[in-house]
Amino acid sequence: MTKEEEAVKIERLKVNYKTLEEFKKFKEYGIQELSMLEDLQENIIEDNSESPFYGIYFADKLVARMSLYQKDAKYDLYFNPQQTYFELWKLEVLPNYQFKGFGKALVDFAKSFGLPIKTNSRMKSKEFWEKMGFQTVDYDMNRDLGQNPLVWCPEGVSLQKTNS
Ligand code: COA
Repeated sequence: MTKEEEAVKIERLKVNYKTLEEFKKFKEYGIQELSMLEDLQENIIEDNSESPFYGIYFADKLVARMSLYQKDAKYDLYFNPQQTYFELWKLEVLPNYQFKGFGKALVDFAKSFGLPIKTNSRMKSKEFWEKMGFQTVDYDMNRDLGQNPLVWCPEGVSLQKTNS
């Protein structure tokens, strides 16, 4: 292991101006971040509120992040038995920090809760997700609506059968 990998610490990110400024360095910056900024500016949320984001700092700089959102069992259309699961998205490692284990560290952290995980892969990163033990699901047009979901099942959990 390199020094960088030994130091990996996953942190729950707080919504504040510093975090929102750091988010601008990530390619997948969009409506979710802008609405957090607006909520902060209009005092709808307090400074330092918890966000659904987790991240890794390296030398005081946010270099990797993901959003992890717990979905209630009643919305589960993927796992058998039907259960609470995580939606993981916006996993991204800044270019100079890729291939150092930060992406894997975030995914391992998400897995550590023992709940199934669903993510939506960008074509280029499919190989990464497969290395992380994720599998593609049988595409179901009504459920997946043009998405390309990849899922991870903890032991004892399998996939629901689809109608397609
Ligand atoms: N294609 C194929 N394999 C990849 C890969 C890629 N794009 N990125 C990482 N891997 C492999 C690594 O070689 C490593 O393999 P090993 O365990 O055999 O050594 C393993 O996956 C873990 O790699 P890690 O160092 O943890 O990856 P990372 O920190 O670079 O994070 C991404 C991976 C894809 C999240 C990161 O590179 C990234 O943000 N890329 C750009 C944005 C993107 O595509 N995001 C996808 C989510 S929407």
